[in-house]
Amino acid sequence: MVRAFVGIEVTAYTRSTLDVTEAAAVNQAVARVAPHLIVNCAAFNDVDGAEDRAAEALAVNAFAVRNLARAAEDVGAKLVHYSTDFVFDGSASTPYREDARPSPRGTYAASKLLGEWFALAAPGSYVLRVESLFGSPANWTGRRGTLDGIVANLEQGREVRAFTDRVVSPSYVADIAEATRHLTMSNAAPGLYHCVNAGHATWYEVAREVAALIGHPPPTLIPVTMDQMKLKAPRPRFCALSIDKLTATGFTMPTWQDALRRWLATRGALTT
Ligand SMILES: NC(=O)c1ccc[n+]([C@@H]2O[C@H](COP(=O)([O-])OP(=O)(O)OC[C@H]3O[C@@H](n4cnc5c(N)ncnc54)[C@H](OP(=O)(O)O)[C@@H]3O)[C@@H](O)[C@H]2O)c1
Repeated sequence: MVRAFVGIEVTAYTRSTLDVTEAAAVNQAVARVAPHLIVNCAAFNDVDGAEDRAAEALAVNAFAVRNLARAAEDVGAKLVHYSTDFVFDGSASTPYREDARPSPRGTYAASKLLGEWFALAAPGSYVLRVESLFGSPANWTGRRGTLDGIVANLEQGREVRAFTDRVVSPSYVADIAEATRHLTMSNAAPGLYHCVNAGHATWYEVAREVAALIGHPPPTLIPVTMDQMKLKAPRPRFCALSIDKLTATGFTMPTWQDALRRWLATRGALTT
């Protein structure tokens, strides 16, 4: 994200330098920096864990966003906040538009929807719904998203189980960062935007594409259904997001296949 704003002074925080759940600390940091733009990448992202840790999920995904939105409004800053496809129940069969009615299932999903509402209460806010993020560097040791996990397993010749009944629009973090820069610096209207790479596929189809691009060792892909995996929190089955609104602002999101190829190239993992 910081790289997308090259040429602009950026003050970046981690949890150890700013706990966004602490309203006073947020106010102090914002008053000190007096930013034109606040980009909130902090989240409680443990979808299953949130079922037992609702208070923590709400603190980070909802009430901390209220802290940031209020602080942004106080200094006249724009706010970017990221939300999720999980605000939908996944019962649709065509890509969700921004005006589709949210219907979160599960604590993580509900906490993220509340965060959207708090963010949008501030006048200069952009809420970008992203989904199935990928793009970590090859030497990354932190938390991994599903796609990063698929790539790591295939690269090491390990078996991969992938859903045949969950449809997603995978999103490359570098492209999301570019879209964020575009929206906030092009005078696009504040509000809610779907921000994912173009297209959609089942996780199994995504894994097959990765396997084809990586080429070696011979992949072991095992198709599974969500019912077989017995996950604690419910997942929406169909979560393709329409990016027509983002496109209308003049930003063209590459397809997820193109994004996947570019990311694998940065890891030196492409064989085709
Ligand atoms: N990953 C996905 O596939 C996905 C899908 C849909 C939407 N999203 C949304 O996209 C955004 C970015 O997701 P991500 O996957 O990049 O997140 P991530 O890797 O889980 O990073 C979240 C960051 O927030 C930090 N954090 C947690 N609590 C904090 C607090 N109280 N104060 C300050 N920082 C705190 C975490 O610090 P620690 O490392 O110390 O915990 C971590 O660095 C989030 O809003 C997420 O909900 C992600």
